[in-house]
Amino acid sequence: MVDEVHAIDALSYEQRTFPPSTEFKANAIVSDQSLYLEGERDFEAYWARHARELISWAQPFTKTLEWDLPYAEWFSDGTLNVSYNCLDRQVLAGRGDKVAFYWEGEPGDSRVITYLQLLDEVQRFANVLKNLGIKKGDRVNIYLPMIPEAAVAMLACARIGAAHSVVFGGFSSQSLSDRINDAEAKLLITADGGWRRGEVFPLKSQADEALKSTTTIEHVVVVKRGNNEISMTPGRDVWYHEAMADADAVCDAEPMEAEHLLFLLYTSGTTGKPKGIMHTTAGYLTHVTTTFKYAFDHKPDTDIFWCTADVGWVTGHSYIVYGPLANGATQIMYEGVPNFPANDRIWQIIEKYKATIFYTAPTAIRTYMKWGAQELAKHDLSSLRLIGTVGEPINPEAWIWYNENVGGSRCPIIDTWWQTETGGMMITPLPGVTVTKPGSATFPLPGIGAELVDEQGNRVLSGGGYLTLTTPWPGMLRGIWGDQKRYRETYWSRFPGRYFAGDGAKLDSDGYLWLLGRVDDVMNVSGHRISTTEVESALVSHPSVAEAAVVGANDAMTGQAIIAYVTLRSGLEVDEKVLREHVAKEIGPIAKPKMIFFTPDLPKTRSGKIMRRLLRDVAEGRNIGDTTTLADASVVSELQRRASETPTED
Ligand code: WTA
Repeated sequence: MVDEVHAIDALSYEQRTFPPSTEFKANAIVSDQSLYLEGERDFEAYWARHARELISWAQPFTKTLEWDLPYAEWFSDGTLNVSYNCLDRQVLAGRGDKVAFYWEGEPGDSRVITYLQLLDEVQRFANVLKNLGIKKGDRVNIYLPMIPEAAVAMLACARIGAAHSVVFGGFSSQSLSDRINDAEAKLLITADGGWRRGEVFPLKSQADEALKSTTTIEHVVVVKRGNNEISMTPGRDVWYHEAMADADAVCDAEPMEAEHLLFLLYTSGTTGKPKGIMHTTAGYLTHVTTTFKYAFDHKPDTDIFWCTADVGWVTGHSYIVYGPLANGATQIMYEGVPNFPANDRIWQIIEKYKATIFYTAPTAIRTYMKWGAQELAKHDLSSLRLIGTVGEPINPEAWIWYNENVGGSRCPIIDTWWQTETGGMMITPLPGVTVTKPGSATFPLPGIGAELVDEQGNRVLSGGGYLTLTTPWPGMLRGIWGDQKRYRETYWSRFPGRYFAGDGAKLDSDGYLWLLGRVDDVMNVSGHRISTTEVESALVSHPSVAEAAVVGANDAMTGQAIIAYVTLRSGLEVDEKVLREHVAKEIGPIAKPKMIFFTPDLPKTRSGKIMRRLLRDVAEGRNIGDTTTLADASVVSELQRRASETPTED
């Protein structure tokens, strides 16, 4: 019997707890509640203090926040330059010879780039942009592999006040032209090609294709990386290395208004037309700089930081480019896939550069689980002292695996919840303070307000609900490019006065937050609102399972029936019935999948999120909808083939 309608029912309760070690705590930047208390007392003052202490201003601000829902302005009367904060001031502080990037190419080539070299490259490239007619306020598209020039291009845009719009190098020419057209970009920066899985993939030819259906691009700058054959359009296209050779070495960083547009980043998530998310200068920089420092407990003199995201995603923007460089970090940047030339590439790189902090996605962790712990055992990972995750809920068993096999049971894990829209981390442990629970992102960071509400918008103090943000934060999106109506409707209309993130979550009796996935994915089985995440985590807690995706498919009896797609750990097998019983035992008979399909892979977005919408289409025998964000379309056709061969009765 269901007496009241819950937004989402909470089914599973994880009991294991992991406090930071005494040693970690003793050396941590934050090891007590003081920051939380400061943020609670006055979140504006909290952010203003960090904006003053961690950011260099050309003209200091006097106003902290002007808030006219849904529009925020942070530090609006100050001026500053983001590239100055990331580069010049590091060099002025004596970090010129410090390594900014250890870059590792997929074929095994490598480069070491110091802060002084990066500053030099960025100044020259800023002059290249100017020579090609780019001015403050223009938009520049970037379509590059994971090479240092991607960071150079972004920082050069920031230096002269042009907004960048980075499009992930794995996206198609159609996605690229859509984004160029929406942003009305004047310049495109691309490469001949990049390395992926032992081969060169073409970028310039894709860009040429995209440019057939755009009208605003005046020039294309081409970085030489793949050495693959390309065609150059005279008058329009220029080689990066040639333009750089002619460029002046000095380009002073121009102070920008605090609310000047820093970048657009298009997000389609798992559904819908891409939205050009707008991020501005001062608030964004303050947010990513502060959160990088505290969440990673970052020590510039000793840490080697590695975030495995692509710069084409917000994680790459905030925690490869802006947050780390503004903190003077030394980083690893890797061009290719984790299984080239073999399944131990990631661990080999950690050992080679003695990485101390590692930040990756749950989807990657589940893949490493699938490949097996023997790959990690080949390498010395003892340099690691902190590990983190982002992008999806992490299943408790994947967390435990990460803790033991990557973290050696000594590294705190920070499970960081945030979005392209939030700009930086919002809900995450502070590693020297928080007692973690596997699968929980724990608490909002200091200065951040997050609450759950039910269908009617009433606050939920325990159990499942919709995740909302209650106070403006400096890294928040300032809107959707060209569509402020959609901005208000998508994020600020469903619950008055609150930002609606689109995610479900639950609060346990200790006040810990557990993310439960996108609310569009919540299933309704006989009136119970069940999160896909909890059923997936129950499946992944079986020792044979590496990864699972769960969807609700229409069902005459129960409204929706739970259908599961399961990937096994390599070399292991398990019976469908055994898994069903396992779920019943873990979280209750109501959550037992009606059908389970075994599959070597799951359909994922190019950033690694499971696309449950497509699995729903498959489960309900529909033609699958929009697949432009799908990483590998063959996965879906294989599942469709199997579904059509499977009898539909249990
Ligand atoms: C999901 C990535 C659970 C969530 C930075 C969010 C997470 C969406 C977590 C944003 C996490 C991200 N636990 N879910 N730690 N981190 N998500 O825009 O659904 O690519 O709304 O930003 O990813 O994805 P985006």
